[in-house]
Amino acid sequence: MRKGPGFGVTALKKKLFIKTYGCQMNVYDSDRMADVLGPLGYEPTDTPDGADMVILNTCHIREKASEKVYSELGRIRHLQNEKAADGGRMVVAVAGCVAQAEGAEIMMRAPHVDMVFGPQTYHQLPEMVTRAVRGAGGVVNTDFPVESKFDLLPEESAKPQGPAAFLSVQEGCDKFCTFCVVPYTRGSEYSRPVAQVLNEAKRLVSHGVREITLLGQNVNAFHGEGPDGKAWGLGRLIRALAEIDGLARIRYTTSHPRDMDDDLIDAHGTVPQLMPFLHLPVQSGSDRILAAMNRKHTGDDYRRLIDRLRTRQPDLALSSDFITGFPGETDQDFADTLRLITDIGFAQAYSFKYSARPGTPAATLEGRQVDEKVKDERLQAVQQLLNAQQVAFNQTMIGRTLSVLFDRVGKLEGQLLGRSAYMQSVYVQAPARLMGQMVEVHITGAYANSLSGHVVTGETMTQAASRAVEVHA
Ligand code: SAH
Ligand code: SF4
Ligand code: F3S
Repeated sequence: MRKGPGFGVTALKKKLFIKTYGCQMNVYDSDRMADVLGPLGYEPTDTPDGADMVILNTCHIREKASEKVYSELGRIRHLQNEKAADGGRMVVAVAGCVAQAEGAEIMMRAPHVDMVFGPQTYHQLPEMVTRAVRGAGGVVNTDFPVESKFDLLPEESAKPQGPAAFLSVQEGCDKFCTFCVVPYTRGSEYSRPVAQVLNEAKRLVSHGVREITLLGQNVNAFHGEGPDGKAWGLGRLIRALAEIDGLARIRYTTSHPRDMDDDLIDAHGTVPQLMPFLHLPVQSGSDRILAAMNRKHTGDDYRRLIDRLRTRQPDLALSSDFITGFPGETDQDFADTLRLITDIGFAQAYSFKYSARPGTPAATLEGRQVDEKVKDERLQAVQQLLNAQQVAFNQTMIGRTLSVLFDRVGKLEGQLLGRSAYMQSVYVQAPARLMGQMVEVHITGAYANSLSGHVVTGETMTQAASRAVEVHA
Protein backbone atom coordinates (compact mmCIF):
# COMPACT_ATOMS: atom_id res chain seq x y z
CA MET A 1 0.00 0.00 0.00
CA ARG A 2 1.35 3.44 -0.88
CA LYS A 3 1.66 5.75 2.11
CA GLY A 4 1.72 9.07 0.30
CA PRO A 5 4.57 11.33 -0.76
CA GLY A 6 6.79 10.59 2.28
CA PHE A 7 7.02 6.91 1.30
CA GLY A 8 9.75 7.26 -1.31
CA VAL A 9 11.89 9.39 1.00
CA THR A 10 11.63 6.91 3.88
CA ALA A 11 12.71 4.10 1.59
CA LEU A 12 15.94 6.01 0.84
CA LYS A 13 17.05 6.34 4.46
CA LYS A 14 20.68 5.40 4.96
CA LYS A 15 22.62 4.72 8.13
CA LEU A 16 25.51 6.98 9.09
CA PHE A 17 28.05 6.01 11.75
CA ILE A 18 30.54 8.66 12.91
CA LYS A 19 33.33 7.84 15.36
CA THR A 20 34.96 10.86 16.94
CA TYR A 21 38.50 11.07 18.31
CA GLY A 22 40.41 14.01 19.81
CA CYS A 23 39.18 17.32 21.13
CA GLN A 24 35.75 18.90 21.62
CA MET A 25 36.13 20.68 18.30
CA ASN A 26 35.95 17.28 16.62
CA VAL A 27 32.79 16.46 18.61
CA TYR A 28 31.24 19.69 17.33
CA ASP A 29 32.42 18.97 13.76
CA SER A 30 30.98 15.44 13.81
CA ASP A 31 27.55 16.84 14.69
CA ARG A 32 27.80 19.37 11.87
CA MET A 33 28.78 16.59 9.42
CA ALA A 34 25.62 14.74 10.43
CA ASP A 35 23.67 17.97 9.80
CA VAL A 36 25.13 18.28 6.29
CA LEU A 37 24.41 14.63 5.48
CA GLY A 38 20.86 14.63 6.88
CA PRO A 39 19.26 16.10 3.72
CA LEU A 40 20.99 13.35 1.66
CA GLY A 41 19.03 10.75 3.64
CA TYR A 42 21.74 9.77 6.15
CA GLU A 43 20.53 9.16 9.69
CA PRO A 44 22.93 8.71 12.61
CA THR A 45 23.28 5.22 14.06
CA ASP A 46 25.40 4.10 17.00
CA THR A 47 27.06 1.07 15.44
CA PRO A 48 29.19 0.66 12.32
CA ASP A 49 27.62 -2.77 11.60
CA GLY A 50 25.69 -2.55 8.36
CA ALA A 51 26.08 1.24 8.12
CA ASP A 52 25.90 2.84 4.66
CA MET A 53 28.57 5.35 5.60
CA VAL A 54 31.27 5.26 8.27
CA ILE A 55 33.24 8.41 9.07
CA LEU A 56 36.24 8.37 11.38
CA ASN A 57 36.76 11.93 12.60
CA THR A 58 40.39 11.71 13.61
CA CYS A 59 43.02 13.34 15.83
CA HIS A 60 46.70 13.79 14.97
CA ILE A 61 47.92 15.37 18.21
CA ARG A 62 50.00 12.43 19.48
CA GLU A 63 51.33 9.32 17.76
CA LYS A 64 48.99 6.98 19.63
CA ALA A 65 45.95 9.00 18.61
CA SER A 66 46.93 8.75 14.94
CA GLU A 67 47.71 5.04 15.00
CA LYS A 68 44.28 4.22 16.46
CA VAL A 69 42.77 5.25 13.14
CA TYR A 70 44.57 2.56 11.20
CA SER A 71 43.59 -0.22 13.57
CA GLU A 72 39.98 0.96 13.43
CA LEU A 73 40.13 1.04 9.62
CA GLY A 74 41.21 -2.61 9.71
CA ARG A 75 38.07 -3.54 11.68
CA ILE A 76 35.86 -1.45 9.40
CA ARG A 77 37.22 -3.28 6.33
CA HIS A 78 35.64 -6.54 7.55
CA LEU A 79 32.27 -4.85 8.04
CA GLN A 80 32.58 -3.27 4.61
CA ASN A 81 33.24 -6.72 3.07
CA GLU A 82 30.27 -8.23 4.90
CA LYS A 83 28.02 -5.48 3.62
CA ALA A 84 29.32 -6.00 0.06
CA ALA A 85 28.67 -9.77 0.37
CA ASP A 86 25.04 -8.87 1.13
CA GLY A 87 24.95 -6.76 -2.04
CA GLY A 88 25.27 -3.45 -0.17
CA ARG A 89 27.83 -0.69 -0.11
CA MET A 90 29.55 0.91 2.87
CA VAL A 91 31.24 4.21 2.09
CA VAL A 92 34.27 4.68 4.39
CA ALA A 93 35.64 8.15 5.12
CA VAL A 94 38.52 9.55 7.16
CA ALA A 95 37.95 13.12 8.32
CA GLY A 96 39.64 15.44 10.80
CA CYS A 97 43.27 16.12 11.57
CA VAL A 98 44.87 12.84 10.41
CA ALA A 99 43.06 13.31 7.11
CA GLN A 100 44.46 16.84 6.83
CA ALA A 101 48.00 15.75 7.74
CA GLU A 102 48.26 12.55 5.73
CA GLY A 103 45.84 13.11 2.83
CA ALA A 104 46.18 10.59 0.01
CA GLU A 105 48.70 8.54 2.02
CA ILE A 106 45.76 7.15 3.98
CA MET A 107 44.36 5.55 0.83
CA MET A 108 47.73 3.99 0.06
CA ARG A 109 47.81 2.37 3.50
CA ALA A 110 44.09 1.58 3.51
CA PRO A 111 42.80 1.30 -0.08
CA HIS A 112 39.26 0.51 1.08
CA VAL A 113 38.84 4.15 2.17
CA ASP A 114 36.56 6.10 -0.21
CA MET A 115 36.94 9.65 1.10
CA VAL A 116 39.64 11.60 2.94
CA PHE A 117 38.74 15.16 3.88
CA GLY A 118 40.13 17.81 6.20
CA PRO A 119 38.36 19.84 8.91
CA GLN A 120 37.74 22.87 6.66
CA THR A 121 35.95 21.03 3.86
CA TYR A 122 33.01 19.14 5.32
CA HIS A 123 30.47 21.68 4.05
CA GLN A 124 31.42 20.21 0.64
CA LEU A 125 30.32 16.71 1.72
CA PRO A 126 27.34 16.49 -0.68
CA GLU A 127 29.62 16.81 -3.75
CA MET A 128 32.26 14.53 -2.20
CA VAL A 129 29.68 11.83 -1.43
CA THR A 130 28.26 11.99 -4.95
CA ARG A 131 31.73 11.50 -6.39
CA ALA A 132 32.62 8.69 -3.99
CA VAL A 133 29.34 6.83 -4.53
CA ARG A 134 29.76 7.04 -8.30
CA GLY A 135 32.89 5.03 -7.55
CA ALA A 136 35.32 6.76 -9.90
CA GLY A 137 38.28 6.44 -7.50
CA GLY A 138 38.68 7.86 -4.02
CA VAL A 139 38.02 11.47 -3.04
CA VAL A 140 40.81 13.39 -1.30
CA ASN A 141 40.07 16.93 -0.13
CA THR A 142 42.57 18.67 2.14
CA ASP A 143 42.02 22.21 0.85
CA PHE A 144 41.75 25.29 2.99
CA PRO A 145 38.92 26.79 0.92
CA VAL A 146 38.61 30.57 0.68
CA GLU A 147 35.00 30.37 1.81
CA SER A 148 34.29 29.63 5.47
CA LYS A 149 32.45 26.39 6.14
CA PHE A 150 30.53 28.21 8.90
CA ASP A 151 28.85 30.43 6.27
CA LEU A 152 27.71 27.39 4.32
CA LEU A 153 26.61 24.88 6.93
CA PRO A 154 22.86 24.32 7.19
CA GLU A 155 21.34 26.78 9.65
CA GLU A 156 18.54 24.51 10.78
CA SER A 157 20.53 21.61 12.13
CA ALA A 158 19.59 18.59 14.20
CA LYS A 159 18.29 19.24 17.70
CA PRO A 160 21.00 19.35 20.36
CA GLN A 161 21.39 16.10 22.31
CA GLY A 162 21.06 17.48 25.83
CA PRO A 163 21.15 20.58 28.05
CA ALA A 164 24.88 21.23 27.52
CA ALA A 165 26.19 22.04 24.04
CA PHE A 166 29.37 23.05 22.25
CA LEU A 167 29.55 26.06 19.98
CA SER A 168 32.65 26.64 17.81
CA VAL A 169 33.52 30.32 17.68
CA GLN A 170 37.17 30.24 16.66
CA GLU A 171 39.27 27.78 14.77
CA GLY A 172 42.91 27.33 13.84
CA CYS A 173 46.08 28.53 15.46
CA ASP A 174 48.89 30.97 14.64
CA LYS A 175 50.98 30.23 17.72
CA PHE A 176 53.18 27.46 16.34
CA CYS A 177 54.26 25.85 19.58
CA THR A 178 57.20 23.74 18.43
CA PHE A 179 55.63 20.41 19.49
CA CYS A 180 52.17 20.88 18.00
CA VAL A 181 50.48 19.87 14.75
CA VAL A 182 47.35 22.00 15.16
CA PRO A 183 48.53 25.05 13.14
CA TYR A 184 49.14 22.66 10.22
CA THR A 185 45.97 20.58 10.53
CA ARG A 186 43.51 23.38 11.34
CA GLY A 187 45.13 26.27 9.50
CA SER A 188 45.39 29.86 10.62
CA GLU A 189 43.20 31.58 13.19
CA TYR A 190 39.67 32.38 12.12
CA SER A 191 36.88 33.87 14.23
CA ARG A 192 33.19 33.60 13.34
CA PRO A 193 31.17 36.81 13.12
CA VAL A 194 29.44 37.71 16.39
CA ALA A 195 25.91 37.71 14.87
CA GLN A 196 26.40 34.15 13.60
CA VAL A 197 27.53 32.99 17.04
CA LEU A 198 24.64 34.71 18.83
CA ASN A 199 22.10 33.21 16.41
CA GLU A 200 23.46 29.72 16.93
CA ALA A 201 23.43 30.23 20.72
CA LYS A 202 19.81 31.43 20.65
CA ARG A 203 18.79 28.44 18.57
CA LEU A 204 20.47 26.07 21.04
CA VAL A 205 18.74 27.76 23.99
CA SER A 206 15.37 27.57 22.22
CA HIS A 207 15.90 23.76 22.14
CA GLY A 208 16.44 23.62 25.91
CA VAL A 209 20.21 24.08 26.12
CA ARG A 210 21.19 25.67 29.47
CA GLU A 211 24.97 25.52 29.16
CA ILE A 212 27.17 26.47 26.20
CA THR A 213 30.89 25.82 25.92
CA LEU A 214 32.50 28.13 23.39
CA LEU A 215 35.15 26.26 21.45
CA GLY A 216 38.32 27.24 19.69
CA GLN A 217 41.87 25.91 19.39
CA ASN A 218 42.76 29.31 20.87
CA VAL A 219 39.34 30.43 21.87
CA ASN A 220 40.52 33.51 23.74
CA ALA A 221 42.21 34.76 20.56
CA PHE A 222 38.63 35.27 19.34
CA HIS A 223 38.26 38.55 17.43
CA GLY A 224 35.03 38.09 15.47
CA GLU A 225 33.40 40.95 13.62
CA GLY A 226 30.71 42.54 15.75
CA PRO A 227 27.44 44.06 14.52
CA ASP A 228 29.18 47.46 14.90
CA GLY A 229 31.82 46.43 12.34
CA LYS A 230 34.52 46.29 15.03
CA ALA A 231 36.44 43.20 16.15
CA TRP A 232 35.00 41.89 19.42
CA GLY A 233 37.13 40.04 21.94
CA LEU A 234 35.95 36.96 23.81
CA GLY A 235 35.02 38.95 26.94
CA ARG A 236 32.63 41.11 24.95
CA LEU A 237 31.14 38.08 23.21
CA ILE A 238 30.55 36.42 26.59
CA ARG A 239 28.75 39.52 27.89
CA ALA A 240 26.45 39.48 24.85
CA LEU A 241 25.75 35.76 25.30
CA ALA A 242 24.95 36.33 28.97
CA GLU A 243 21.97 38.43 27.85
CA ILE A 244 20.26 35.43 26.25
CA ASP A 245 17.32 34.50 28.46
CA GLY A 246 17.54 30.91 29.67
CA LEU A 247 21.28 30.48 29.11
CA ALA A 248 22.46 29.67 32.63
CA ARG A 249 26.08 28.69 32.08
CA ILE A 250 28.87 29.78 29.77
CA ARG A 251 32.30 28.17 29.47
CA TYR A 252 35.13 28.44 26.95
CA THR A 253 38.02 26.19 25.96
CA THR A 254 40.95 26.02 25.08
CA SER A 255 42.76 29.20 25.99
CA HIS A 256 46.33 30.38 25.64
CA PRO A 257 47.86 32.36 28.53
CA ARG A 258 49.05 35.08 26.13
CA ASP A 259 45.52 35.84 24.92
CA MET A 260 43.99 36.39 28.37
CA ASP A 261 43.17 40.11 28.04
CA ASP A 262 41.90 42.50 30.73
CA ASP A 263 38.32 42.43 29.50
CA LEU A 264 38.17 38.63 29.62
CA ILE A 265 39.75 38.55 33.07
CA ASP A 266 37.19 41.13 34.17
CA ALA A 267 34.33 39.03 32.77
CA HIS A 268 35.29 36.30 35.26
CA GLY A 269 34.42 38.69 38.08
CA THR A 270 31.35 40.32 36.57
CA VAL A 271 29.39 37.81 34.46
CA PRO A 272 27.58 35.40 36.81
CA GLN A 273 26.84 32.96 33.95
CA LEU A 274 30.57 32.55 33.25
CA MET A 275 31.47 29.44 35.23
CA PRO A 276 34.30 29.60 37.79
CA PHE A 277 36.38 26.99 35.98
CA LEU A 278 39.15 27.69 33.50
CA HIS A 279 41.27 25.33 31.41
CA LEU A 280 44.45 27.29 30.77
CA PRO A 281 47.29 25.06 29.51
CA VAL A 282 50.79 25.96 30.63
CA GLN A 283 52.65 22.81 29.41
CA SER A 284 55.76 23.30 31.57
CA GLY A 285 57.02 25.28 34.55
CA SER A 286 60.55 25.70 33.20
CA ASP A 287 61.36 28.99 31.46
CA ARG A 288 63.98 27.28 29.31
CA ILE A 289 61.50 24.67 28.09
CA LEU A 290 58.71 27.23 27.68
CA ALA A 291 61.05 29.21 25.42
CA ALA A 292 62.00 26.09 23.44
CA MET A 293 58.28 25.33 23.07
CA ASN A 294 57.75 28.85 21.68
CA ARG A 295 55.06 29.53 24.29
CA LYS A 296 56.32 33.13 24.62
CA HIS A 297 55.70 33.42 28.35
CA THR A 298 57.52 32.37 31.53
CA GLY A 299 56.39 30.39 34.55
CA ASP A 300 56.14 33.63 36.54
CA ASP A 301 54.03 35.26 33.80
CA TYR A 302 51.61 32.39 34.28
CA ARG A 303 51.66 32.75 38.08
CA ARG A 304 50.94 36.49 37.80
CA LEU A 305 48.11 35.84 35.35
CA ILE A 306 46.51 33.35 37.74
CA ASP A 307 46.86 35.91 40.57
CA ARG A 308 45.00 38.47 38.48
CA LEU A 309 42.26 36.00 37.63
CA ARG A 310 41.88 34.94 41.25
CA THR A 311 41.72 38.57 42.36
CA ARG A 312 38.71 39.05 40.05
CA GLN A 313 37.16 35.65 40.83
CA PRO A 314 38.44 34.11 44.08
CA ASP A 315 36.31 31.00 43.50
CA LEU A 316 38.07 30.14 40.20
CA ALA A 317 39.06 26.47 39.78
CA LEU A 318 41.90 25.83 37.35
CA SER A 319 42.82 23.13 34.89
CA SER A 320 45.82 22.76 32.62
CA ASP A 321 47.78 20.57 30.19
CA PHE A 322 51.33 19.39 30.82
CA ILE A 323 53.89 17.71 28.58
CA THR A 324 56.66 15.63 30.12
CA GLY A 325 59.94 14.89 28.34
CA PHE A 326 59.94 17.70 25.81
CA PRO A 327 63.33 17.52 23.96
CA GLY A 328 66.12 18.75 26.21
CA GLU A 329 64.04 18.65 29.42
CA THR A 330 66.39 18.10 32.39
CA ASP A 331 65.61 16.97 35.94
CA GLN A 332 65.82 20.62 36.99
CA ASP A 333 63.33 21.68 34.26
CA PHE A 334 60.98 18.98 35.41
CA ALA A 335 61.37 20.04 39.05
CA ASP A 336 60.32 23.54 37.93
CA THR A 337 57.13 22.05 36.49
CA LEU A 338 56.31 20.29 39.75
CA ARG A 339 56.99 23.53 41.62
CA LEU A 340 54.61 25.48 39.40
CA ILE A 341 51.90 22.86 39.95
CA THR A 342 52.41 23.09 43.70
CA ASP A 343 52.33 26.91 43.61
CA ILE A 344 49.11 27.14 41.59
CA GLY A 345 47.04 24.20 42.83
CA PHE A 346 44.88 22.69 40.07
CA ALA A 347 41.35 21.34 40.38
CA GLN A 348 42.18 18.91 37.57
CA ALA A 349 44.61 18.65 34.67
CA TYR A 350 45.77 16.54 31.75
CA SER A 351 49.33 15.39 31.27
CA PHE A 352 50.98 13.73 28.31
CA LYS A 353 54.32 12.26 27.36
CA TYR A 354 55.95 14.30 24.62
CA SER A 355 55.26 12.68 21.27
CA ALA A 356 57.41 13.70 18.30
CA ARG A 357 55.07 14.74 15.49
CA PRO A 358 56.13 14.75 11.84
CA GLY A 359 56.70 18.22 10.43
CA THR A 360 56.97 20.00 13.79
CA PRO A 361 60.25 21.77 14.75
CA ALA A 362 60.68 19.92 18.09
CA ALA A 363 60.64 16.54 16.35
CA THR A 364 63.84 17.44 14.53
CA LEU A 365 65.83 18.30 17.67
CA GLU A 366 68.13 15.34 17.17
CA GLY A 367 70.15 14.09 20.09
CA ARG A 368 67.92 16.02 22.47
CA GLN A 369 64.97 13.61 22.59
CA VAL A 370 64.33 12.41 26.13
CA ASP A 371 64.51 8.71 26.89
CA GLU A 372 61.10 6.99 26.86
CA LYS A 373 61.68 5.62 30.37
CA VAL A 374 62.43 9.09 31.75
CA LYS A 375 59.32 10.51 30.03
CA ASP A 376 57.31 7.73 31.66
CA GLU A 377 58.71 8.34 35.14
CA ARG A 378 58.07 12.06 34.89
CA LEU A 379 54.54 11.45 33.65
CA GLN A 380 53.87 9.23 36.67
CA ALA A 381 55.26 11.86 39.03
CA VAL A 382 53.29 14.70 37.50
CA GLN A 383 50.09 12.65 37.49
CA GLN A 384 50.55 11.68 41.11
CA LEU A 385 50.84 15.32 42.16
CA LEU A 386 47.90 16.42 39.99
CA ASN A 387 45.71 13.56 41.22
CA ALA A 388 46.44 14.49 44.83
CA GLN A 389 45.45 18.09 44.10
CA GLN A 390 42.27 16.92 42.37
CA VAL A 391 41.25 14.71 45.30
CA ALA A 392 41.97 17.55 47.75
CA PHE A 393 39.92 19.96 45.64
CA ASN A 394 37.00 17.53 45.41
CA GLN A 395 37.08 17.02 49.17
CA THR A 396 36.57 20.74 49.78
CA MET A 397 33.11 20.24 48.23
CA ILE A 398 31.83 18.01 51.04
CA GLY A 399 29.09 19.80 52.97
CA ARG A 400 28.64 22.41 50.24
CA THR A 401 25.47 22.84 48.18
CA LEU A 402 26.31 23.02 44.47
CA SER A 403 24.21 23.77 41.40
CA VAL A 404 24.28 20.71 39.18
CA LEU A 405 23.03 20.52 35.60
CA PHE A 406 21.73 16.98 35.08
CA ASP A 407 22.70 15.83 31.60
CA ARG A 408 23.03 12.02 31.71
CA VAL A 409 21.50 8.99 33.39
CA GLY A 410 23.78 7.10 35.76
CA LYS A 411 24.52 3.37 35.71
CA LEU A 412 22.44 2.65 38.83
CA GLU A 413 18.65 2.59 38.79
CA GLY A 414 17.18 6.04 39.48
CA GLN A 415 20.55 7.75 39.26
CA LEU A 416 21.18 11.00 37.40
CA LEU A 417 24.55 12.47 36.54
CA GLY A 418 25.38 16.09 36.09
CA ARG A 419 28.15 18.64 36.22
CA SER A 420 28.99 21.14 38.90
CA ALA A 421 30.13 24.65 38.04
CA TYR A 422 33.70 23.32 38.46
CA MET A 423 33.18 20.53 35.87
CA GLN A 424 33.03 17.72 38.40
CA SER A 425 30.68 14.83 37.61
CA VAL A 426 28.05 14.58 40.34
CA TYR A 427 26.07 11.36 40.96
CA VAL A 428 22.66 11.73 42.60
CA GLN A 429 19.58 9.56 43.19
CA ALA A 430 16.97 11.80 41.61
CA PRO A 431 13.68 11.55 39.75
CA ALA A 432 14.00 11.34 35.94
CA ARG A 433 11.94 14.53 35.52
CA LEU A 434 14.96 16.50 36.76
CA MET A 435 16.96 15.54 33.64
CA GLY A 436 18.05 18.70 31.82
CA GLN A 437 17.45 20.85 34.93
CA MET A 438 19.78 22.84 37.17
CA VAL A 439 19.29 21.50 40.66
CA GLU A 440 20.83 22.30 44.05
CA VAL A 441 22.70 19.27 45.40
CA HIS A 442 24.10 18.84 48.88
CA ILE A 443 27.49 17.13 48.48
CA THR A 444 28.18 14.19 50.80
CA GLY A 445 30.83 12.18 48.93
CA ALA A 446 34.04 13.15 47.12
CA TYR A 447 36.14 10.76 45.02
CA ALA A 448 39.07 11.05 42.62
CA ASN A 449 36.90 11.82 39.61
CA SER A 450 33.44 12.61 40.91
CA LEU A 451 31.16 13.75 43.70
CA SER A 452 27.91 12.39 45.13
CA GLY A 453 25.11 13.93 47.11
CA HIS A 454 21.38 14.43 47.38
CA VAL A 455 18.96 16.88 45.88
CA VAL A 456 18.08 19.75 48.18
CA THR A 457 14.29 19.96 47.94
CA GLY A 458 12.30 23.16 48.58
CA GLU A 459 11.54 21.88 52.08
CA THR A 460 15.09 21.05 53.05
CA MET A 461 16.24 24.37 51.63
CA THR A 462 13.89 26.13 54.05
CA GLN A 463 15.17 23.94 56.88
CA ALA A 464 18.75 24.69 55.88
CA ALA A 465 17.94 28.40 55.81
CA SER A 466 16.37 28.33 59.28
CA ARG A 467 19.35 26.35 60.61
CA ALA A 468 21.63 29.00 59.16
CA VAL A 469 19.61 31.67 60.96
CA GLU A 470 19.85 29.72 64.24
CA VAL A 471 23.60 29.41 63.85
CA HIS A 472 24.01 33.12 63.20
CA ALA A 473 21.61 34.15 65.99
N1 SAH B 1 45.42 24.99 21.98
C1 SAH B 1 45.70 24.40 23.20
C2 SAH B 1 45.99 22.90 23.16
C3 SAH B 1 45.75 22.08 21.97
S1 SAH B 1 46.37 20.44 21.96
C4 SAH B 1 46.85 25.13 23.86
O1 SAH B 1 47.46 25.98 23.29
O2 SAH B 1 47.20 24.83 24.96
C5 SAH B 1 45.95 19.79 23.54
C6 SAH B 1 47.13 19.41 24.36
O3 SAH B 1 47.81 18.32 23.80
C7 SAH B 1 48.19 20.48 24.50
O4 SAH B 1 47.86 21.44 25.45
C8 SAH B 1 49.41 19.70 24.85
O5 SAH B 1 49.55 19.54 26.24
C9 SAH B 1 49.16 18.34 24.23
N2 SAH B 1 50.03 18.12 23.08
C10 SAH B 1 50.04 18.78 21.91
N3 SAH B 1 51.02 18.31 21.11
C11 SAH B 1 51.65 17.34 21.80
C12 SAH B 1 52.76 16.48 21.52
N4 SAH B 1 53.42 16.56 20.38
N5 SAH B 1 53.13 15.58 22.48
C13 SAH B 1 52.47 15.51 23.66
N6 SAH B 1 51.43 16.29 23.97
C14 SAH B 1 51.01 17.20 23.06
FE1 SF4 C 1 49.07 23.86 19.51
FE2 SF4 C 1 50.29 25.84 20.72
FE3 SF4 C 1 48.37 26.35 18.98
FE4 SF4 C 1 47.79 25.27 21.34
S1 SF4 C 1 48.66 27.30 20.98
S2 SF4 C 1 47.00 24.63 19.35
S3 SF4 C 1 49.52 23.95 21.71
S4 SF4 C 1 50.34 25.44 18.52
FE1 F3S D 1 43.37 16.41 17.71
FE2 F3S D 1 42.94 18.02 15.72
FE3 F3S D 1 41.72 18.42 18.02
S1 F3S D 1 44.85 17.10 16.22
S2 F3S D 1 43.21 17.66 19.47
S3 F3S D 1 41.42 16.69 16.69
S4 F3S D 1 42.50 19.97 16.64
